[in-house]
Amino acid sequence: MVILGIETSCDETSSAVVKDGQLLSNVVSSQVDLHAVYGGVVPEIASRHHLKLIDAVVQTAFKKASIAVSDIDAIAVTSGPGLPSALLVGVAAARGMAASLKKPLYPIHHMEAHLYSPELKPEPFIALIVSGGHTMLLHVQKFGDHQLLGQTVDDAAGEAFDKAARLLGLPYPGGPQIEKEAKNGNPAAYPFPRPMLDSPDWNFSFSGLKTAIRREVQGRTITPKDMADLCASFQQAVTDVLIGKSIAAAKKLRARQIAISGGVAFNNYIREQFESRCARENLHVSFAQKSLCTDNAGMIALLAEQKIKNGYTAPGEWDIQPDWVLAK
Ligand code: KG4
Ligand code: ZN
Repeated sequence: MVILGIETSCDETSSAVVKDGQLLSNVVSSQVDLHAVYGGVVPEIASRHHLKLIDAVVQTAFKKASIAVSDIDAIAVTSGPGLPSALLVGVAAARGMAASLKKPLYPIHHMEAHLYSPELKPEPFIALIVSGGHTMLLHVQKFGDHQLLGQTVDDAAGEAFDKAARLLGLPYPGGPQIEKEAKNGNPAAYPFPRPMLDSPDWNFSFSGLKTAIRREVQGRTITPKDMADLCASFQQAVTDVLIGKSIAAAKKLRARQIAISGGVAFNNYIREQFESRCARENLHVSFAQKSLCTDNAGMIALLAEQKIKNGYTAPGEWDIQPDWVLAK
C-alpha cells in the first residue's frame, strides 16, 4: 500500500510517501525564519505560505520517493488539532487530490501521529509528547487504546523553551538555542524549581520556570558564562520534571517502556538523560527518530497505514477539528 501524507497544522508545510511501512520521502518546508521576527507563529502568515508551497512540497515528495501520482492508494492528512486556516490548506489540497484520483482520504490526529512516531515494542507503554503546543503524558495499553494521565496546566514544554529563550534574548525557536548554549554551562548553577515534580497528579506546569528566569536576569548584564549556566540550569529543570513524571507513571502503571515524541524530543541532552535514568530503572526508552520529532507528514502517513491495517475506513463527511482532543 502506498500512502501520501500531508501536514500543514502549524508552520511546517510537509508531504511524505509511505510504502508498506517504509518512509520513501518526508519533505518538510519550515517557515520558522518567517515567524522568527515575531517571536512565534503568526497564523495568517502560516496559511499564506502553506498555500504557496503545498503544491511544490507534494511534487517533491513524489519525486524523492520515485513514485508516480497514479501509484498511490490513499491520502492521509492532518485534520486537527492546529491552526484552523493552516489546517484548511492541507485538507483542501488532500481533498482535491483524493477526488481527482478517486482514492480514499483519511483524516489524521496530529498528536496521535506524534504519539506513535517512536519505534515501539509490542507491549503497553507510557507516552510523553512534548512539543511547542502540548505536553501530554499518556498510558497506552495497545495500539489505539490510550488514556490521558496528565498534561500541562499552563505552558507546553516547547513553549517554555521558547519563552525562556526570549527572556534571555535568544531567537525563536528557543529549544535548539538553549540546548546549544547549555553545552558550555553548569546545570547546577541556578536552583530553578522543578514544578509539580512531586504533585499527586500527572500534570505539568512550566510557567513558574519562566518567572524564575525573569527574576534572575532582570536589570543585569548577562555574560556568556551566565548565559550558558542559565540555559543549562533551565534545561536541567525541565529535563528532571519530564523524566521524573514519566518514570513515576511507568512504575505506578507497571509499564516497562516509555516513548517520547514531539519537537522537544529533538534535544540530545534530554535524550541522554532519559536513557541513563531509564536504564537505572530497567525501563526501555524509545525516542521518535529526529526527522519525525518536529512536525512532518511522515508520521501522518505512517499512522494512517497502521490505522488502516487496524480497520480504519475513510469517513464520509468530515471537517477540520482545530481543537480535537486526543484522549480524556
Ligand atoms: O512538534 P513541534 O515541531 O511543533 C508543535 O507541534 O508544537 O515542536 C516545536 C517545539 C518548539 O517549541 C521548539 O522550541 C521545540 O519544539 N524544540 C526543542 C528543540 N528543538 C525544537 N526544544 C528543546 N530542544 C531542542 N533541541
Ligand atoms: Zn506537532
